Amino acid sequence: MVRSFLITVSAALMLAAASTAAAAAAVHWEFVDANQPQTLEYQINCTKELRGVYEDLSIYAVPEPCWIKTSMLPAEHMYSQLIVLERQHLEGDSAQDIQDWSDAVTDAVADYAIHSESKTGEGNGAQLPYTVFRGRRKFCRFTTIDLPASQPKHRIVIGSNCAADETFNLIDFLPSNTEVLPVRTQGFVDPLLSLPPNHPIITKSKTLKHRKSLQAIVDQVNIKTLEKDVTWLTGEADGSPFLTRSSTSKQSLEVAQWIKSQFESYGCDKVELMTYNRRFGPNVICTFTGTERPDEHVIIGAHHDSRGSFFNPRAPGADDDGSGSSMLLQVARIIKANNLSFGRTFVISAFSGEEQGLFGSAALARKMKEDGTSITMMIQGDMLAYRKPGEPIQVAFPARYHTPELSSLLRNVTELYVPEAVVGITGACCSDHQSFWEAGFPATAFFERNGPIADPMYHNSGDLVYREGYDFEQLRASTKAMMASVFEVADIKFDL
Ligand SMILES: *[C@@H]1O[C@H](CO)[C@@H](O)[C@H](O)[C@H]1NC(C)=O
Ligand SMILES: *[C@@H]1O[C@H](CO)[C@@H](O)[C@H](O)[C@H]1NC(C)=O
Ligand SMILES: *[C@@H]1O[C@H](CO)[C@@H](O)[C@H](O)[C@H]1NC(C)=O
Ligand SMILES: [Zn+2]
Repeated sequence: MVRSFLITVSAALMLAAASTAAAAAAVHWEFVDANQPQTLEYQINCTKELRGVYEDLSIYAVPEPCWIKTSMLPAEHMYSQLIVLERQHLEGDSAQDIQDWSDAVTDAVADYAIHSESKTGEGNGAQLPYTVFRGRRKFCRFTTIDLPASQPKHRIVIGSNCAADETFNLIDFLPSNTEVLPVRTQGFVDPLLSLPPNHPIITKSKTLKHRKSLQAIVDQVNIKTLEKDVTWLTGEADGSPFLTRSSTSKQSLEVAQWIKSQFESYGCDKVELMTYNRRFGPNVICTFTGTERPDEHVIIGAHHDSRGSFFNPRAPGADDDGSGSSMLLQVARIIKANNLSFGRTFVISAFSGEEQGLFGSAALARKMKEDGTSITMMIQGDMLAYRKPGEPIQVAFPARYHTPELSSLLRNVTELYVPEAVVGITGACCSDHQSFWEAGFPATAFFERNGPIADPMYHNSGDLVYREGYDFEQLRASTKAMMASVFEVADIKFDL
């Protein structure tokens, strides 16, 4: 098996033991031993070095409380951050697929060990004595790495996509000598605790009521155009050039350029390609400048990148997240068709690099935070079209990594404007709204199902439009819910 793509793994873990000087862009990680008051600090350069991407193998940091066995930890460590080395296995993966992934992780770790050693000037590239253990339970994947013997005897537990009910048993799956340590970060994740009483989201919650004029706009969401756009993105439409929308593919740039041309045809005041990583296609950002409060921004997002099966060049991503991408285009189309304008500045953003660790949205959130941009809300639509046979049309809000007051308002907006949907909550996690939420902006997401991910084609090359369960009535309902939400909060002006 060819594994040459692994050679360039560059995730260097700077083992700057007990170092206190945090570089401006560096993240401070603390590995805190519950039995030992002493705090050991490892400095990792998250923006620069930790976040790496190798096809289906990702190395990145996300907030995940999931692996912690609460009884083992002091309460203040509940909010944690994990290092994630992941590859999305699916139940159908062959033994060879899993072996390849295992080898990949081993290589990745070997590479980082060599890196950190040469970085600290202590070695000549010899491998450090680490050991790796990997396991998986449903969608929850985890890996442990023993730090080298020269380092304190701490083992890093790595996991992702773990639902709460999966993690309490996680420890049982680890080798018996595993130490599980809480990992905390400082200066990276800084969510809002709650919205102030005079925040527009709170004020809106008190005055929200159904408007026929907005319903008439929202009801224009149209299956034909959704289908046209999403099948172009997946490569299923006649004439579509797209085979993959993987962030790291050459086509990722062509995809971004196509989305840009669509946005331009819908009359955005400004359309930008935001490049933040030369290996990825850019974010595509359309802006409609607000007529009354141009400094206040309402952002709707989805990600245009996707992923396929391991070693399969096809990454059509019809649901993940062609559905969200076509939703964005639909919103722009309806703005143009009705000559709509907004009191607040309205931003439509198609992100790249989501699958590898929310890179594109992290870049935009960081930039907006640095610029001091005021964001009234940011919402993300990721996986909006799959309806498990037999289930009703649904709209779900996240159980974690969101702003509760915002989700609560938009839940009510959805119930008002999309009566055909059963509204609920999902534990499915992690998309671009999280980047904004982490940066302290009000943010939430919309998802296709109340409950966990049910799409059997999740993260594989079979994520096509024309298959069982991909449902345009579901996609229309999700799109209506998101459109009503942003038009309401952006303060829509009808050209009557
Ligand atoms: C982290 O990355 C930033 C941005 O590239 C760089 O300026 C800084 O020196 C790096 N810090 C460390 C500790 O490597
Ligand atoms: C949502 O609607 C319910 C029922 O009408 C109401 O009690 C609640 O206050 C509303 N919440 C928000 C945030 O608007
Ligand atoms: C669109 O609306 C703006 C004001 O919002 C108005 O000035 C313009 O004339 C309208 N254009 C069309 C084509 O109706
Ligand atoms: Zn996605």
